[in-house]
Amino acid sequence: MRALVVDHAAPGGVRLSAVEDPEPARDEALVRVRAVSVNFGEAVGGIDEADDGTVLGWDAAGIVERAAADGSGPAVGTPVISLGAAGAWAELRAVRADTLAVAPPGTDPGALAALPVAGFTALRALHEAGPILGRRVLVTGASGGVGRFTVQLARLGGAHVTALTSGVDTHGAELRSLGAHDVVGEPRDVLHRVDAVIDLVGGATLVDSFEQLADNGVLVAVGHAAGLPERFPHGSLFGTPDRPRRRLVTFHTAGQGNPAGDLGWLARQVHDGLLDPQIAWRGPWAAAGEVIEGLRERRIHGKAVLDVG
Ligand SMILES: NC(=O)c1ccc[n+]([C@@H]2O[C@H](COP(=O)([O-])OP(=O)(O)OC[C@H]3O[C@@H](n4cnc5c(N)ncnc54)[C@H](OP(=O)(O)O)[C@@H]3O)[C@@H](O)[C@H]2O)c1
Repeated sequence: MRALVVDHAAPGGVRLSAVEDPEPARDEALVRVRAVSVNFGEAVGGIDEADDGTVLGWDAAGIVERAAADGSGPAVGTPVISLGAAGAWAELRAVRADTLAVAPPGTDPGALAALPVAGFTALRALHEAGPILGRRVLVTGASGGVGRFTVQLARLGGAHVTALTSGVDTHGAELRSLGAHDVVGEPRDVLHRVDAVIDLVGGATLVDSFEQLADNGVLVAVGHAAGLPERFPHGSLFGTPDRPRRRLVTFHTAGQGNPAGDLGWLARQVHDGLLDPQIAWRGPWAAAGEVIEGLRERRIHGKAVLDVG
């Protein structure tokens, strides 16, 4: 089969190459991959840290080519979505069958490929924040892949949504169309204290957003796009009579258990037109290097999807 393999000498750090087909274990299905996505964490860091020849890739959408030998999981011909630690950027992927999400037939594979890391992270980060119906949610890094899902899902969940973006002028209207009630450029511009923050940026944005929490509010620290440390001024973490309890929790998608159920739900929302994957860049997988450089240089605002084959 062909795959995108890490090659640090190539533009973006990957190139198409012939590699061995994966050998599925008894509980794994073999999936014919139709589309994949590239995430921030793969473009920034993931490729640099991998050895030449590695097949990376977390997100893939495709069709079951061979069902698992132990009889588990979807049958041959089923459209599926997979989220895994590696191996998505290839024509064939071996995936533990019980982690495959079944997608509604006829759904665009490119839209499905945008879901695994970004959509699942957005959904589970909101779960971590607790009930949001009738509550105020602030989403930082809102113009990115995870941010756009988070804004839409928070609105679907009944929250008052404030989107924070460094591009208020460039992305404000888009974020409002996705469901944001307010769009701000800085945490200090938030008009009312919020019950939850889903933070995708880290650094000073996290520190300043924590200050915007209402009593019993929670900040879910999901992303670190700024790549900067968090320095809390003395007193920031003091409880006060009007705000005795605010929480900051860490988050990692890999620790969230089997994604199949939630990914299947997200796929149905996309199929039914209730969730837009916000594909900002789509093209053939031969152009992967271009996408990776676009993500590194902050030129892609939304999901980046590659069609495989
Ligand atoms: N913990 C986990 O398991 C998990 C899972 C998924 C993603 N993440 C992390 O979440 C973050 C967002 O992921 P993503 O896929 O949405 O990335 P993305 O599509 O590249 O979006 C990142 C957004 O962060 C904002 N940003 C602010 N300062 C930035 C800077 N110095 N460099 C780059 N972006 C900056 C930008 O939004 P504005 O222009 O709107 O400000 C940008 O659109 C990343 O740090 C990623 O690694 C973590």
